[in-house]
Amino acid sequence: MRISEAKFVGSSPTVAMKPSRKLPEFAFIGRSNVGKSSLINMLCGNSKLAKTSSTPGKTKLINHFLINDSWYIVDLPGYGFAKISKKEREGLRLMINDYILNSEEMTLLFVLIDSRHDLQKIDQEFINGLGENGIPFAIIFTKGDKMGPNALKAQIEKNKQILSEQWEELPPMFASSAETGAGKEEILDYIEQYI
Ligand code: GTP
Ligand code: MG
Repeated sequence: MRISEAKFVGSSPTVAMKPSRKLPEFAFIGRSNVGKSSLINMLCGNSKLAKTSSTPGKTKLINHFLINDSWYIVDLPGYGFAKISKKEREGLRLMINDYILNSEEMTLLFVLIDSRHDLQKIDQEFINGLGENGIPFAIIFTKGDKMGPNALKAQIEKNKQILSEQWEELPPMFASSAETGAGKEEILDYIEQYI
């Protein structure tokens, strides 16, 4: 699938306030700074669409982007950002949970994991929560350009092992880079099956 049109349609603090037009939604979540907004821009071929920053905690609301006038990409705030107040962190946690549990149009959630690292406890807890709530998800390993191909492959294998300890069947997985465009076709073709 090709994205020929992508436009920002709104930021909402709650699911109740999201854009009223009901279309399938594909959402992106992961630890703060993992590269959610950058990946969305790469998929859409527009580096200015979603706001990115080298400082964690950039995305603070539920952002809807209308794609090809027929579905939405949803950019969510990151989880697990340490350098904010407890109150602010709890607010973001509630916002993420509200969206994930209550957005009836959410077709699939992409959970982003930094290619360079082992799955962290917070990622595992988050993914286990998705399982408990029956939420369909896939995993995208980000920032693949920061490693050589062999190291990248080995690290993905290691993370599969970690996931296999909890999950009998592994979710769909993709390797990506917002810098090189790796993974773009695979991810968009995967989304296409649902729309
Ligand atoms: P929050 O909104 O703060 O939760 O972060 P985010 O997950 O949306 O991350 P964002 O896309 O803002 O990217 C964070 C930083 O990582 C930025 O400095 C990006 O330029 C960088 N980055 C993101 N993706 C990639 C990638 O694939 N390769 C490289 N080299 N850098 C990346
Ligand atoms: Mg962001």
